[in-house]
Amino acid sequence: MKYPKEYLNEIKTRLKISTVVSKSVALKKRGKEYVGLSPFKNEKTPSFTVNDEKEFYHCFATSEHGNIFDFLMKTQNFKFGEAVKHLAQLAGMQPYLFSKQDEEREKKWKKYLNIYSQYVDFYHNELLKNDTYSNARDYLKNRSLGKEEVKKFKIGYVEKNPNFFDKFKDQFNEQTLVESGLFYLDEKKKIYVERFKGRLIFPINNISGHPIALGGRIIEQSDYLAKYINSPETLFFKKGSNLYNLDLARKLSNKLSDIYLVEGYMDVIGLSKNGIENAVANLGTSLTDKQILTLNQFFDDIIICFDGDESGYKAALRAAENSIKDLKPEKQISFLFLPDKEDPDSFVNKNGKNHFIDFSKQSKIPIHQFIFSHYKKQTENNPSSMAVFDKKLKSIAYTIKDDYIKKYVLEYFLERISDLTPHTNQNKKNYYIKKIKTLESTKKYFNESKSLTGVELKEFSLLYLIMFNLKLMQENVHLLENIKLFTDINKQIFDKIISKLKSGEKLTIEELEIDNQLLEKINKFAPIKHILKNKLDSDNEIIELLEDINRDLNNYDLEFRIAELESKFSKDMSEATFNELKDLKKKQNIN
Ligand code: CTP
Ligand code: MN
Repeated sequence: MKYPKEYLNEIKTRLKISTVVSKSVALKKRGKEYVGLSPFKNEKTPSFTVNDEKEFYHCFATSEHGNIFDFLMKTQNFKFGEAVKHLAQLAGMQPYLFSKQDEEREKKWKKYLNIYSQYVDFYHNELLKNDTYSNARDYLKNRSLGKEEVKKFKIGYVEKNPNFFDKFKDQFNEQTLVESGLFYLDEKKKIYVERFKGRLIFPINNISGHPIALGGRIIEQSDYLAKYINSPETLFFKKGSNLYNLDLARKLSNKLSDIYLVEGYMDVIGLSKNGIENAVANLGTSLTDKQILTLNQFFDDIIICFDGDESGYKAALRAAENSIKDLKPEKQISFLFLPDKEDPDSFVNKNGKNHFIDFSKQSKIPIHQFIFSHYKKQTENNPSSMAVFDKKLKSIAYTIKDDYIKKYVLEYFLERISDLTPHTNQNKKNYYIKKIKTLESTKKYFNESKSLTGVELKEFSLLYLIMFNLKLMQENVHLLENIKLFTDINKQIFDKIISKLKSGEKLTIEELEIDNQLLEKINKFAPIKHILKNKLDSDNEIIELLEDINRDLNNYDLEFRIAELESKFSKDMSEATFNELKDLKKKQNIN
């Protein structure tokens, strides 16, 4: 059975080849490409290259090359279907189910693409060649758009009395044509009307560069016609899932790490005319999570630059509150506010590329700062207003999905709030200052401890707790017996300690005979030592800590087993594996 192209393309869109390859091969960026040691050959100097733009890898040592699917088939011995399943899961997509409906859909998709590409090509060529469309040409000239932009964006002009429906009638049935969104039935006159008649049309392409919808602008002032219209949502076009110009802009992601997100078609085109090609527009609707995630697949830094008016500001605020929850480590979202009444198109045309880029570098504000300063402006210096402010910021921080980002954003908010209330928060302020100092002086410590895994650190805490509470542990040795350790060396010493404790003789730390190096590491890194209050903890508190550690280690065990099963499931897709997985996840939720 064959997977539809649409589905495979969607996978390729969502996953850069370098992302997939770097899961098993360490890659380094070199110019437009990534290089690494070949997975197909034992080698000391890298001859393996990965090119995101061209969507393939190539090994110069063995001449192996291919796309993401080939990569998994060759390096993991997957069959094609397995590679598709695995990558779809990685891309966050549902597994593909083969059915009669899917086949139908695939047929419709081919027709849909065919209709749009014929339509776009035809009216694009008309605009370029047909002399009777002088009004459209004048309009473009007025906005100083030349042939180059018209060609790059395949802009077209649909005449006022078009008859493309008749041209299409021999190739497609009426229902198919209406489902494309290009035509609608005029109930009174019983004729099919072209939705975009009398408009300049801007093709909206999918990620692979095929037109799947249009935006259309009137060229003569009109009181009763909307300035812009878009294709309606169709089976294959969903507004919140697409971005204008993403197909071209994403190709720059090897050279540039930032992308401008603007409001309108003309903003993208104006920027491009001025040499700024890394821009996309969100088609006049509010920004969706999916659009942010898609942009982050390709670019680390999203710069949202909406119009310098009130509606632009409001849209930016909505975008900020919505997208902060998807912020990820190493990714940035920032906002660029233009002077009043300007939009990116007018601003770049007036000031040129360099000024635009300099302005952007100097004036862009990280998302958390924008949110903070917006709500601060609305706050008065009285307790009740401050309380609302405080609560609002915290509630925004809590929506953030990534725990690290959440922590830092929350810390930023709290710190800035405490700056605003110097009297009530004197103690807290000192606390922050102290903390920043220690962080500086213990940088080395963190670098060393970073190479330890979370599990190891937990195990160190366990050993530390035992070492310094030998008598108590001896009395409660039964509590230790069920604890599961993962790291070989820690496990060995742990087993040895238990048997010594069981012997019933009074013990000292020295008698545990822990290897010196290990002992030093435990003393240095066991996180629990920061919690213990130097012998002041009661026995009960120590036992509680022990139980906490036991529960955490158990959870690690569950996590490992779940990860194992998930990868098994992605390969065998069997119901048994799935049920086993479900049980484990239930257990994990209970703990
Ligand atoms: N838009 C829309 N319907 C409207 C107005 C705008 O769908 N009636 C969408 C379009 O996608 C448009 C974007 O919102 O590109 C931005 O609108 P606007 O700022 O008004 O357009 P500009 O890009 O400034 O276009 P122009 O310079 O042609 O007026
Ligand atoms: Mn505008």
